[in-house]
Amino acid sequence: MQQPQYFTSPGALQRFAQKLAQLAQPGWVFLLEGDLGAGKTTFAQGFARGLGITATVVSPTFTLLNEYRDGRIPLVHGDFYRLEDPLQAEELHLEEYWENGWVVLLEWPDRLSELPEQYLQIQLEITDSGRLLSLSGKGLAVPDGDETE
Ligand SMILES: Nc1ncnc2c1ncn2[C@@H]1O[C@H](COP(=O)(O)OP(=O)(O)OP(=O)(O)O)[C@@H](O)[C@H]1O
Ligand SMILES: [Mg+2]
Repeated sequence: MQQPQYFTSPGALQRFAQKLAQLAQPGWVFLLEGDLGAGKTTFAQGFARGLGITATVVSPTFTLLNEYRDGRIPLVHGDFYRLEDPLQAEELHLEEYWENGWVVLLEWPDRLSELPEQYLQIQLEITDSGRLLSLSGKGLAVPDGDETE
């Protein structure tokens, strides 16, 4: 686990996400955790820009998944807030994305019944004047080389 980082504006959070995206490798999965309005989609927008994606990332709340193929690595962005039945997510075959080298960003991953063996977790916390971001990893090295379970 790295030190939590503090962002006082959406733009600052997006610049961090953009830099992180430049380090991303095919098959990496990012779980975006945090309350409603914590900044998960804001993060995804900066991240997509860092992959060189030109489309504006919008929350895929109703479609569950949005695909973006025009970046350095193809990206799929999911939002499972409205998922009522984990079986509905199984039908999406998310594993095919990471197995085929897509970068996977998932909002509300706690709605899923199964998670991949390896992922990076981005935890966003709302504070009085900004957002606190904690980055941790399961099963793979995070950018500063730490590995935590
Ligand atoms: N430092 C900050 N970082 C990110 N967002 C911020 C920050 N300060 C204020 N905001 C605001 O908080 C909101 C974050 O919304 P966003 O849609 O990214 O959240 P979310 O976690 O995806 O929510 P949801 O769970 O509803 O999908 C935006 O309106 C944004 O402008
Ligand atoms: Mg969102």
